[in-house]
Amino acid sequence: MGFNIAVDGPAGAGKSTIAKRAAQELSFIYVDTGAMYRAIALYFLRHHVCVEHPEEVENACDQIQIAIRYENQEQQVFLNGENVTAFLRTEEVGNMASVSSAKPAVRAKLLNLQREIAQKENVLMDGRDIGSNVLPGAELKIYLTASVQTRAERRYQELKEKGIACNLEEIKKDIEERDYRDMNRDVSPLVKTEDAVLIDSSNMTIDQVVESILNLYQERRHSL
Ligand code: DC
Repeated sequence: MGFNIAVDGPAGAGKSTIAKRAAQELSFIYVDTGAMYRAIALYFLRHHVCVEHPEEVENACDQIQIAIRYENQEQQVFLNGENVTAFLRTEEVGNMASVSSAKPAVRAKLLNLQREIAQKENVLMDGRDIGSNVLPGAELKIYLTASVQTRAERRYQELKEKGIACNLEEIKKDIEERDYRDMNRDVSPLVKTEDAVLIDSSNMTIDQVVESILNLYQERRHSL
């Protein structure tokens, strides 16, 4: 069994950037579970699956195969054999993922895959329920967050740099709605477990957050 680091937190807290960097520094495999939920959401959008119909969701899940592979240390997500990584980061897919990931059949579909990967390797896995549900025995758990204002401003900046027209208030509203859905769903909601270390990145740079994760790792490794 590998050393498992779980990083959970709300949308826009910088999890993927930070988790990817920290994993690289540690030579751990970085597993972005959000991308797996996004791949299922993409299938639902493409096939017009009605997420409010449990039977439709279950039938769709039976048709879906998700796999991940690594190319140049970058996670690639395969949906029924097609590399869909390039299609996953849109707002449309993100919003659908936030809704569809609340469905039990969707979560059941990904749980074993995520656990299997962590069993074999040293992984740094990021998501919403990694410390609480996927890897409750993880050697190190981190809850990474930032204020809604900070997260919205970061997202606004990111979109502006890409030349995408956007509105800060709308982004803020979107983040609040997504937080609410992720934290209040019945199955595996986003929570900070008691044994997770809280990092609020509102006033921290990416480097500082990565550094604190590396320090926590060293401390934990020596105490084991
Ligand atoms: O981290 P992200 O924005 O790529 O995740 C997309 C959605 O997937 C998010 O709104 C909640 C869901 N998700 C989840 O429910 N559990 C995870 N472990 C990861 C993501």
